[in-house]
Amino acid sequence: MIVWVYFSAAVGCLIQLCEGKAYLVRNLYECSTTKDVCRKTALFEAASFTQYHLHLAQQIMDSVPMVDGHNDFPWHVMLDFGGRMEGWDMRKNMWDYFQHRPDHPSQTDIPRIRQGLLGAQLWSVFTNCSAQYRDGVTKGLRAVDLIKRFTHKYSDFFRFVTSADGILEAFNAGKFASLIGLEGGHMIDSSLGVLRIYYEVGVRYMTLTWNCATPWADSVTNTVINTPVHHGLSQFGKRVVLEMNRLGMLVDVSHAALDTMYDVLNVSAAPIIFSHSSAFALCPHRRNVPDDVLRLLRNNGGIIMINFYPDFINCTQDDVYDTTFNRTASISQIADHLDHIKSITGPDHVGIGADFDGMDHVGELKDVSTYPYLFAELLSRGWPRADLEKLAFHNFYRVLKAAEQVRDSKLKDEPDDTLVDEADVPDRSCLSERWDT
Ligand SMILES: *[C@@H]1O[C@H](CO)[C@@H](O)[C@H](O)[C@H]1NC(C)=O
Ligand SMILES: *[C@@H]1O[C@H](CO)[C@@H](O)[C@H](O)[C@H]1NC(C)=O
Ligand SMILES: *[C@@H]1O[C@H](CO)[C@@H](O)[C@H](O)[C@H]1NC(C)=O
Ligand SMILES: *[C@@H]1O[C@H](CO)[C@@H](O)[C@H](O)[C@H]1NC(C)=O
Ligand SMILES: [Zn+2]
Repeated sequence: MIVWVYFSAAVGCLIQLCEGKAYLVRNLYECSTTKDVCRKTALFEAASFTQYHLHLAQQIMDSVPMVDGHNDFPWHVMLDFGGRMEGWDMRKNMWDYFQHRPDHPSQTDIPRIRQGLLGAQLWSVFTNCSAQYRDGVTKGLRAVDLIKRFTHKYSDFFRFVTSADGILEAFNAGKFASLIGLEGGHMIDSSLGVLRIYYEVGVRYMTLTWNCATPWADSVTNTVINTPVHHGLSQFGKRVVLEMNRLGMLVDVSHAALDTMYDVLNVSAAPIIFSHSSAFALCPHRRNVPDDVLRLLRNNGGIIMINFYPDFINCTQDDVYDTTFNRTASISQIADHLDHIKSITGPDHVGIGADFDGMDHVGELKDVSTYPYLFAELLSRGWPRADLEKLAFHNFYRVLKAAEQVRDSKLKDEPDDTLVDEADVPDRSCLSERWDT
C-alpha cells in the first residue's frame, strides 16, 4: 500500500513510500494509488534520472518531431484482424487488443503515442519468410494499404508523409508523420519493377533481408544458422542497392549478414540506416552492429536507430541465443547502448528504432509511452540538449534528405532493366513462365 506521496526539495523529486520502502517517483503518469505502481516505479531503480530531467526531456521532445525507425503494429493487425480495419480503435488504449497472443499486448496506440511524445513513425510493412517465392508482393502491398488506411482514418492525428521536409511540415501543422518502411527484400520478388512501385506508393526504406536470404542478399540468420548463399550481396543485389539510391529509398541493413553490411557500405551512393539494431560490443547478438561497422557507418554518414528488444540489449556471450527465459532489459542498459554507439560514431549517427509491437517480450521501456524516460536518463548522464535533438530527429532528417539529394542527382539515369538470374531463385514452383525465355 502506498502510504503517502510528498515532494522533497532535497532530492528534487517526488518520494513515494510503498510497502515501507521509499521510491523516487520518476513516472508522473503512473503516479496513482495501486499496488502495481510500486513495482513499476521500482523497475526504474537502476536509472539515475530525476523528475527534473524528465521535465526537461519532455520540453526537448516537444520541440522536435521524434522519429522512430521501426514499429510492427501493422503486422499485428494482419495477424489478429486479417488486416481489416474493423474491431480495433487506435484512439483507445489498445493494451488488450491483440488476442492471438495474450502474453503480447499492444505496445502502440494514439493515447500512448501522445504520452511518449513521438512525432513520426516508420511503420513496418512485414511478412515472414513463408511468403518468399509465394505471395510476398501481395502481402507487402496489403500492409501498405493498411498503413494508408489507418493514417487516413485518424487523419485528425496522423498525416501521410514521404519526405524529410514532410516530417517537419507535419510537425509544424501539429500532426504526427506516418511513413512506411518495408521489412524484407523477399517482398519485391527479386524485381526492380516491383521495387519502383513500392517507392511510388510511399515506401521510404527497405530492409534488404528479414531472417531469410533473398536470391540476392544474405541475411544474418541464414549465415549464422546455415551457410552463406552470396557472401553478402550478389551482383543483382548491388543493382538493387543502386536502384534504391536512384529512387531515393533508404537502404536498411538491420537483419542483414555482416558481409551484406560491408557490401552495402561499399556500394551505396547514399547514407544507409539500421532501422532497429543495437550494439554488438555490449550484447553480442548477430542482429546487433559491431564496432568496426559503426566506424564505417560514421564515414558513410548513416544512422543506427537502436532497438529496445531485451534479447538485443541484455545478453552475454554465454546466453546470447538462449530464448528459454523471458529476458528483461533496464532503461539504463538501453542508455548504455546509446552511450557506447555515440562514443564510436559521435552524436550524428544515432537514432531510435524501438521495434515496438515487433517484440514478444519487453523490458522497462515497454511501449510507445516510455521514450521520455530514456531521454531523461540520457540527460542525467550528461547528454547535451543538442545531442538529444539529433537523436530524436535531426540525424534521421539529414539521412533521408541526403538520400533525396542522391535521387535528385540521378534524375537523368534510366530505371535499371536488369532481371534476376533465374538460377539464383531456388524455388520457382509458384511462378509462371518468364517472358524473356
Ligand atoms: C509466418 O506467419 C504465419 C502467419 O501469417 C504463420 O502461420 C507461420 O507459421 C509463420 N511462418 C514462419 C516460418 O514463421
Ligand atoms: C570495398 O570494395 C573494394 C574494391 O572492390 C575492396 O577492396 C574492399 O575490400 C571493400 N571493402 C569492404 C569493407 O568490403
Ligand atoms: C514468458 O512469459 C510468458 C508470459 O508471461 C509465459 O507464458 C511464458 O511461460 C514465459 N516463458 C518462460 C520460459 O518463462
Ligand atoms: C538481464 O538478463 C538477466 C538474465 O540473463 C536477468 O537475470 C537480469 O535481471 C537482466 N537484467 C536487467 C537489468 O534486466
Ligand atoms: Zn525486425
